[in-house]
Amino acid sequence: MRGVILAGGRGTRLGDTTRVTNKHLLPVYDRPMIYQPIATLKAMGCTDILIVTGGENVGGFAQLLGSGFTYRVQDRPDGIAGALAQAEGYVDGLFPVILGDNYFSASFAMPDRPTIYAARTERPEAFGIYDPGAGRITEKPKDPVSDLAVTGLYVYDDRVWDVIRTLTPSARGELEITDVNNWYLQHGLMDVHDAPGTWSDMGTPDSLLRAALHVKGAA
Ligand code: DAU
Repeated sequence: MRGVILAGGRGTRLGDTTRVTNKHLLPVYDRPMIYQPIATLKAMGCTDILIVTGGENVGGFAQLLGSGFTYRVQDRPDGIAGALAQAEGYVDGLFPVILGDNYFSASFAMPDRPTIYAARTERPEAFGIYDPGAGRITEKPKDPVSDLAVTGLYVYDDRVWDVIRTLTPSARGELEITDVNNWYLQHGLMDVHDAPGTWSDMGTPDSLLRAALHVKGAA
């Protein structure tokens, strides 16, 4: 099975640490961040992995990981769905996509339908939040209706490419993965499962530290 890691973006929430390198190359305790999403995809059954990142960083990933991976460039950091668009033609049928800054302690079984995974958060205003009643997601809500964050592991099918082509940039100027997921939810084509184990993003100083402590505990 083929899977996709999205490892572009600006990493601005980590300040000067990402001024000259890519966030996903930073250490999480004793290993580079990108090792975490690689492990999650491999545990799910991926034998081939595409890494999408910015052109200025692709050399760093190739130097670290070598020839066992495929690399594609996202020319501008125009959002998670913009990064995913680069994977068209690499994957086929049902396939997993993971954000390069997401840490999961447990492994996932590959589902047989498009699926997203929710986890409880103490910072609902910082994530895409799932409303189980309405069956839709709000990206970074000011008044969150639940504490169910949509984590950065997604399973899509071939419909996703046409959905991405319909998107327009959000207020923050990005093609939002939440708009893709809401399309699937509205059409009854996506399941929402609880994420097993511990989940954390690694995109802020505090969440990076939390993930590092988990990695240390598991080492
Ligand atoms: O961590 C889960 C959250 O990730 C979800 O709950 C949100 O719905 C989703 O929008 C996303 O939120 P963030 O604001 O945390 O996303 P961020 O901009 O930090 O990007 C997360 C990863 O996506 C990043 O590590 C690399 C990849 N990315 C992001 C952008 C904006 C790209 O590859 N290219 C991009 O242009």
